Amino acid sequence: MNPSQRFAKRVSIKESSLRTRMLDIAAGLTDVIALGRGDPDLDTPAHVIEAGQKALGNGATHYTHPLGMPQLREAIATSIRANGGGDYSADEIVVTAGAQESMFVAMLALIDPGEEVIIPSPGYNSYHQAVELAGGLCVSVPTFERDGFALTAEAVEARLTPASRMLCLINPSNPTGMVIPPSEIEKLAALAIKHDLIVISDEIYARLVYDNARVVPVASLPGMKERTITIDGFSKAYAMTGWRVGYFAAPRHYAKAMAEIHHGLAICAPAVSQHAALAALSGSQDCVEAARQQYDARRRTMMAALDRMGLSYARPNGAFYVYANVSSTGASASDFCLRLLQDGKVMMFPGSLFGDHCDDYVRISLLQPVPKIEEAARRMDAVVKAMKSENKSVQPA
Ligand SMILES: Cc1ncc(COP(=O)(O)O)c(C=O)c1O
Repeated sequence: MNPSQRFAKRVSIKESSLRTRMLDIAAGLTDVIALGRGDPDLDTPAHVIEAGQKALGNGATHYTHPLGMPQLREAIATSIRANGGGDYSADEIVVTAGAQESMFVAMLALIDPGEEVIIPSPGYNSYHQAVELAGGLCVSVPTFERDGFALTAEAVEARLTPASRMLCLINPSNPTGMVIPPSEIEKLAALAIKHDLIVISDEIYARLVYDNARVVPVASLPGMKERTITIDGFSKAYAMTGWRVGYFAAPRHYAKAMAEIHHGLAICAPAVSQHAALAALSGSQDCVEAARQQYDARRRTMMAALDRMGLSYARPNGAFYVYANVSSTGASASDFCLRLLQDGKVMMFPGSLFGDHCDDYVRISLLQPVPKIEEAARRMDAVVKAMKSENKSVQPA
């Protein structure tokens, strides 16, 4: 066998190839406005950077306790309690190398081959990868623009089988920005209890909500803590993607099993980043509110631009994305994104990267200042108009 093709069957190159192609095209262009990746453009708050620098000076260059520094786990438990997420002791919190590691730890520790994991579609694509790595089967529950991309207990129940083991909630959603309404969270919790499902609740965007939306932590509902793993982190709210620090909160029986896998994968999260995370949680939260307000202004700018372009979307009330429907251009979202990059020098990713069932949508990351968002929208408008008029000229008379 050609050595260059000798990799395991579980590696899916197909999914990432479009993203890689787009990044390669962008690398050959100048003046590209990047609205693709989910990496905040804002800087990590100065007091957090300072805490990291200080920690390095004080010797935070070693392994920490595998579950994470005790004082950080205490601070996380306090923060969960303060946000109405329930009562956890420090040994029910495990600090990981980003929320991303928590996701893989959860699947590897809790899913056996052949077990089914229910994932909303579109949804953050790493969940599929994590389930497949564990030998599990992904069961997608499609959500639709007409319903605001809301995940409903009814749609989940229709997909349950005797092999169903876990339900993943991403609340608010990446890529749609949808916040699951409190009444629906209650129904999903009742369903999980009725069918004995483990629930993963990824609440990494929970601090970034708009229009008075409220994220109800599913673990806080009666009977739910014992079956819920809440995944969260510092990357989004505190602009700390590069520090690689996140965590999960789980009842002791799950936390113990998951901690074994975590130790095998990472030993511990980076020590310096744990000190920075502690500063993020214990310092003033004004930086989070300031970031939230900026994302909100960008969200409003982009929604108004899409309205002018005649492109529909479901109003996102969380995270920092707008999920827009480009089917009226006559092209698939993948082709639209390539054209927009080449002709308009704006990078955004097609919904097909998020398990979208129809390749009609693009995910627009709001991770540029308002003037850049406005410029991106102008360029997008020109490409949309050109595509619509080409489309008209090839229609039969
Ligand atoms: C829903 C969701 N969960 C987890 C992650 C990963 O976050 P982290 O940087 O903490 O690993 C992301 C990143 O985009 C995400 O969108």
